[in-house]
Amino acid sequence: MEPFAKLPDALLPWYRGHARALPWRESRDPYRVWVSEIMLQQTRVEAVMGYYARFLQAFPTVEALAGADEDSLFKLWEGLGYYSRARNLQKTARTIAAEYGGVFPQDYASVRALPGVGPYTAGAICSICFDLPTAAVDGNVLRVTARYLNDDTPIDLPAHKKEITDRLESVYPAGNCGAFTQALMELGATVCTPRSPKCGDCPLRTLCRAFAAGTAASLPVKIPKKEKQLVDKTVFLLWYGDELALMRREDTGLLAGMWSLPNVDEPLDVEGALRQAEAFGTQPQAVLRQEHKSHVFTHIRWEMDAFTILCGAKDDRFVWRTPDEIRRRYALPTAFRKFL
Ligand code: ADE
Ligand code: SF4
Repeated sequence: MEPFAKLPDALLPWYRGHARALPWRESRDPYRVWVSEIMLQQTRVEAVMGYYARFLQAFPTVEALAGADEDSLFKLWEGLGYYSRARNLQKTARTIAAEYGGVFPQDYASVRALPGVGPYTAGAICSICFDLPTAAVDGNVLRVTARYLNDDTPIDLPAHKKEITDRLESVYPAGNCGAFTQALMELGATVCTPRSPKCGDCPLRTLCRAFAAGTAASLPVKIPKKEKQLVDKTVFLLWYGDELALMRREDTGLLAGMWSLPNVDEPLDVEGALRQAEAFGTQPQAVLRQEHKSHVFTHIRWEMDAFTILCGAKDDRFVWRTPDEIRRRYALPTAFRKFL
């Protein structure tokens, strides 16, 4: 028999008693669930909460999001990271408004085809909103299943993920598909955690093969990650009076199209930084301060030396704004906001 067949009866009653009261669990409106799942893709629940409330306040409907101006959209997203998610949300909202008459599509293939929606997100939306037997399988769920089965197959193998997805979908409980999806997520997030799983509180304890074998702590097995690429950057805080220089990043690559502090992809000393500021056309007068910060992205780590430089001229390759204007109107990615 499929060992997963026992999961619905073991997990659903537990989920009813233990589910965290999260704002996106109050509604099965696909617009609201979709926004939450996109925000949760690379961001922790606690970090998403405030953004979610502000986002829905500003854009309560697909139409409102479709009509939003990009600057206010990015301003709301500031600090969440992975800004292509915000761009895809709006692109999708426009698609839904134009091609679906404003009604969210209700079948898996159409949901999966929306920009920014992968198999996990499509599975979550379709099970939660439309009660379809579509699993949402990510690292959390794969950790639970690897332990439940006491399976040491590396969880990052695509064939393994496919197999687990198919096997979970074969036991989805009609009428409770959304609760089952979220029960698996919830167990991984709150009980079957990466380190020190709380097996004593787990509704699967009597069924779990890793618990029986005492191997939970050493599962799941993962293929070692590639080292992050390191980029040494020099960042410029160029002041002219009470105004600071900002620039738009190029439309491709990391943080495409976002605002940033002027920067170059090479390490510079004080003399080099002054020469670069000169080349920027800002007539540098003095370096007031030098500081170092790091920022880690998914595949890249930036090591940034920042120079605060007093300028004698504004160059119009930059926009010059006061810190107050920047705070209110410009979405500056966290990597740069660290210096303000
Ligand atoms: N992570 C991804 N989707 C989630 C959800 N619906 N609830 C809690 N955590 C999640
Ligand atoms: Fe995870 Fe322990 Fe529960 Fe097994 S018994 S599913 S290892 S928390």
